[in-house]
This record gives sequence, structure tokens and C-alpha cells, in this order.
Amino acid sequence: QSSGIAMTPPMGWNSWNHFHRNVTDAIIRQQADAMVSSGMRDAGYIYINIDDTWEGGRDAQGNILTNSKFPDMKALADYVHSKGLKLGIYSSPGAKTCAGFEGSLGYEEQDAKTYAAWGIDYLKYDLCGLGVQMKAAGSHEAAHKIMVDAYVKMRDALRSTGRPIVYSLCQYGVDDVWKWGPSVGGNLWRTTGDINDTYARMADIGFNQQLGLAPYAGPGHWNDPDMLEVGNGGMTTDEYKTHMSLWAILAAPLLAGNDLTTMTPETLAILTNHDVIAVDQDKLGKQGDRVSADGLTEMWARPLEGGAEAVGIFNRGTSTATTEVDFHKLGFSGSVKARDLWLHKDLGSIKGPYSVTIPAHGVVMLRVWK
Ligand code: DGJ
Repeated sequence: QSSGIAMTPPMGWNSWNHFHRNVTDAIIRQQADAMVSSGMRDAGYIYINIDDTWEGGRDAQGNILTNSKFPDMKALADYVHSKGLKLGIYSSPGAKTCAGFEGSLGYEEQDAKTYAAWGIDYLKYDLCGLGVQMKAAGSHEAAHKIMVDAYVKMRDALRSTGRPIVYSLCQYGVDDVWKWGPSVGGNLWRTTGDINDTYARMADIGFNQQLGLAPYAGPGHWNDPDMLEVGNGGMTTDEYKTHMSLWAILAAPLLAGNDLTTMTPETLAILTNHDVIAVDQDKLGKQGDRVSADGLTEMWARPLEGGAEAVGIFNRGTSTATTEVDFHKLGFSGSVKARDLWLHKDLGSIKGPYSVTIPAHGVVMLRVWK
């Protein structure tokens, strides 16, 4: 990866979760405008990322073209940059993207140069299309090599442009990508299949599929449990708070996936909770993990700079739960200082066990320090 970029998990917005194939130049401009006017840019959301379906074919020289939805990518990048934001784009190492558009196979260097010339700052490189070559490889080992070589090729192509471009590996956790993602230059890598806007899917990805992955994350290279669904309407406010809290403890990229032009004040308040964002963006860059589970109540913690801990006490059940937080489990002895990150309230000096009441599918999130 380009050194010095994504030293904290990338924050921004991506078109896929809400707009899917319907993304256009006008939508990107509107989202960029809303990013600024809503205060989200100033809360740290910098990348505006175009997902699949922007691609046209190629010209006679092999240069990648946009389709009619994106008349002028350079002009769009200039516009996004003029707002103090950065522009991301999407491609596949295969001949086709997941949605069947033009991929980068055989044109990696040329595409990277085009992205740099347009002013692109972020590339999501989605495995899908390379499945054809991988299946034909004959063995798992040969398929793995095809995949790794393809990601290395684009890494080198991006590097040789000289432009800092965040490199997002999108291959759904294939072959334990967290083990080889750093070696192919990934600034982040998807650890699972796609999220959707349901509590069940979000919780399965966030709670079950991230266990044990903390050692693989660090400044410049992050586990990516997929983009946020906050504000898309399929979960309750408490469930979206859980989503945001868990992603922050997981040191996950925070890529909003809702329509920023129509979001409610409640959605905005979740996405811009500065106490929770500070956990996500903590400079130490250590991912958290589960500390303990008591039935459907789970305690997750993330070590923070200066010896503090971010703690999420999650209720995965469908009725209100009450539990006692034991700060010894986090390595503290005696009394601690704490702040409730959703109430935005300092709790002063407290001694565990500290009793919390957690709504169904909800969370109590604390910052704890000595
Ligand atoms: C699969 C990815 O996982 C999604 O996030 C999205 O990029 C689609 N492909 C686009 O085709």
C-alpha cells in the first residue's frame, strides 16, 4: 500500500448499499454537497466512493471509458475535490465486474494511470469477475496464485502512478485474506460476503465473523466488515447504534451507505457521534474483540491510546437486558473513570461492577480509563 495513507480506518460514503446500479454523476454531486452541509465531512467522512456500474467500454487505445451516467469523470473529481472531499472508484481484476461491466484484466497499468489522471483517491477492487480464471485454474493453489498475482499487479500499477490511492481489496474473506492482504498492498480487505440492511445479517458479520481477526489490523491495513447500512431503514435506531458501535470497536472503515440528502436527524446523529468516531479513529490502531459473553449479552473492548479502553456491552436478545460490567475483565483494578458514548455523559469515578440496562438489540458504549 502507499505508505502513510489510511493510517486510521477510511471514512466516507459509498453508492452501493442505497443506490446499487442507479448511481449517476448527479447523485455523486448531491451526496458530496450533503456530506458538507450535513457536517459529516467535518466529522471525518472524506471519501465519496462510486461503486459498480460507472464503466463504459474501452476506446481504440484500450483506455477505460465511462458510460453515459458519468459524462466526465475528471470534472466530477474536480467538483468533489473542490468540496474538500476525495473521490473513490471501483473495478475488478477480472474481465467483467460483478454487475457485468468492464473490468481491468489486462489493462491494470493503463487503468491505474487513467484513475490518477482523473484524480481518483481510492480504488475498491472487487474479485468477482476473476472467478472465471480462478475456476479454470484446476487447483485451489493455482486459483489462489491467480488471485494474489492479480491484486499485486494492480498494487504495483497504483504505486507507479505516484498518486496516493487507498487500495480496498474486495474479495469477501476468500482464503483468509487478512493473512495475505497486507502483502498485496491492501489498505483494507473485506472479511465477509455482502452486508444487507437487516439486524440478522449485520449481527452475523459484526459479532460472529470478526472474532479473532484483531491481530491482523493496524495502521494502513484494516479488516473491512463491509459498509454501513445506518439510515437505510431496515433496522431500528438501537440496531443502528449497535452497528456503529461495533464497527468502531472493530476499527472498521466507516463508509456510510445511505442517502445523505434525505437522512433524518436521528441518522445523522448516529453517523456523527464524535465520541464513537474517536474510538474508530483511535491513533493506536488496535482492533477490538469480544472479552466475554453471558448468554445473549456480550462485552467487547478495544484498547485505545493512553491506556484507555472502549467497551461495548451488547444485548443480542429481543428484550431489555440488565448486566453488571466488571472492569477487572479489562485489566483495571480499583476505580476507573468512564464516559457513556451514546449519552455523551461523563460518569466520573466509578467502581465496578457497574450496572447497565440495554435495550433489545442495543448497546451501552463506554470509554474507560484510569
Ligand atoms: C460485490 C461487493 O461485495 C459489493 O460491495 C458491491 O461492490 C457489488 N459487488 C457491486 O457489483
